Amino acid sequence: MLDKRVSDLLNEQLNKELYSAYLYLKMANYYAEEGLNGFENWFYIQTQEERDHAMLIRTYLLNNSEKVVLKEIAEPDKEFHSFLEPLEAALAHEKFVTESIHTVYEAAYNCKDFRTMQFLDWFVKEQGEEEKNTDDLVKKFQLFGSDAKGLYMLDAELGARVYSAPSLVL
Ligand code: FEO
Repeated sequence: MLDKRVSDLLNEQLNKELYSAYLYLKMANYYAEEGLNGFENWFYIQTQEERDHAMLIRTYLLNNSEKVVLKEIAEPDKEFHSFLEPLEAALAHEKFVTESIHTVYEAAYNCKDFRTMQFLDWFVKEQGEEEKNTDDLVKKFQLFGSDAKGLYMLDAELGARVYSAPSLVL
């Protein structure tokens, strides 16, 4: 069993990860509609990764005899009007998720829940990588995305991204 606040926050985090998957799926769909299949691929892989994050939390809760509470997933209501907009929104979202992970970590720290802290270490590192990857993408787009040839090449680069399962196994 875990501390009640820690398990509540982990359940909330599970919901946020599923929302992230939903949000990135919306972004993938936007790029698909616009004919940028490389950008679509990049965001579709983000969707898969976010689902993985949610399932890792699910497994962790179950492994600790905690109830998994599945709440409603909010509708991603933002509409996009430029190719840059989803990239900037994704970066802002990752920063929000990082803060959220830190909140769970802090709760675990406050009650000396070393097991949950160790579990969350992977997420802390992952968030650092996700923020960097998304920030790199925003910068690349700002440098090359306004030119048709640059956009074509960037789309091809993002189309080559391949999904890989998370390195954390529970
Ligand atoms: Fe699972 Fe990108 O946060």
